[in-house]
Amino acid sequence: MSKLHYQNEKLFCEETEIKNLTEKYGTPLYVYSKNMIKNKFKTTDEAFSSVDHTICFAMKANSNMEILKLMASMGAGGDVVSGGELYLALKAGIPANKIVYASVGKTDEEIKFGIESGILAFNVESEPELEVVNQIALQMGKKAPVAIRINPNIDVHGHPYISTGKSINKFGIDIDFAFDVFLKAHKMEGINIVGVHCHIGSQILDTEYFAASAKKLFDFVTRLTEAGIEVEHIDIGGGLGVHYPDVIPDYAEEQKGVPPPSELSKKVLEILKPLNKEIIFEPGRSIIGEAAALITKVLYVKRSRDTKFIVVDAGMNDLIRPCLYEAYHQIVPLNKIEGELEKADVVGPICETGDFLAKGRMLPDVKRGDYLAVMTTGAYGYSLACNYNSRPRAAEVWINGENDELIREREKVEDWV
Ligand SMILES: Cc1ncc(COP(=O)(O)O)c(C=O)c1O
Repeated sequence: MSKLHYQNEKLFCEETEIKNLTEKYGTPLYVYSKNMIKNKFKTTDEAFSSVDHTICFAMKANSNMEILKLMASMGAGGDVVSGGELYLALKAGIPANKIVYASVGKTDEEIKFGIESGILAFNVESEPELEVVNQIALQMGKKAPVAIRINPNIDVHGHPYISTGKSINKFGIDIDFAFDVFLKAHKMEGINIVGVHCHIGSQILDTEYFAASAKKLFDFVTRLTEAGIEVEHIDIGGGLGVHYPDVIPDYAEEQKGVPPPSELSKKVLEILKPLNKEIIFEPGRSIIGEAAALITKVLYVKRSRDTKFIVVDAGMNDLIRPCLYEAYHQIVPLNKIEGELEKADVVGPICETGDFLAKGRMLPDVKRGDYLAVMTTGAYGYSLACNYNSRPRAAEVWINGENDELIREREKVEDWV
């Protein structure tokens, strides 16, 4: 049974009725299944157990401190993209030597912080960045651990805003130039080459793309070895997709069309295992995406000449994915409502036409005061939330069986003055 499921017509997270949480914590509210997060991490970790590996949780997907602490306790490393994320990872107890740091725009201060902290690798994304990392390391009398991020020019055919592995994307160094950059890095006094990195995109449901990327990595690392450059690890990035269901949640349904991490690891390891390097995998969405729902209250139901609008108390500041990526999130009532479905737009209170959670969605006859759950919002939900329209960010709770625990307080306007 799914961790988020209906029981007697009421939506539950594990053994906890979500409606009760709205009374305790208010809305908008992110509700996570702690056990689902644990299981997802465990199955991902196990999928790579036949090789030396580290699962570096991509913190951009979710950087809640309690969730990070849970990751740390299960042996996860961290994939960070800013000094802020590095700070949180260390505070959560993720060992520095399990942290990889990507970003096309690392500042000098962030580079210093990474070197001082003793991270596993900077995933360097350009030649100018490599030069700056080298200079800073030399000034500090240290060697910076570097993995160069290669851009393999693989089109994963997803939404253009989450494609990262094509030559038109800003990420990494074009695979055709990257070899020369490695040769250059190899001669730099302040650089210690430790790995090769590659990340081709997000919400990828066809593991053939990962195999294609692994083949390119295999050829690249083989060429490096022939040139006398030995890397210690191969970082295959993240990007495994999840199912964004369009029916009432049901475990079998949830899994439809989504390859398990074992399928990904099988395809990738078939190719990379002979190289005998540590494998780093950087999943974000596939660990945390399905583990949460955003709970929101219906404020008004209004009709224009053409459209029925369900106005709710969660806006694009709480969940920007529908507006930013045209992402589809299933929306279901906390208490099942019988009767005809009708097409409606579910919109937030923000003063933007782009502030919607769903458009033209078939929904039951919800009324003011009803609660809705916006499903599969554990990844890139809260982490992309902001204060636009001076709206405090939502609270977060997680559920362990029948127990709920607040893992982030609702922000207060008073905090800002
Ligand atoms: C370098 C890198 N690694 C890992 C990830 C995590 O991707 P996902 O959440 O799709 O697994 C991202 C996402 O953008 C990324 O840019």
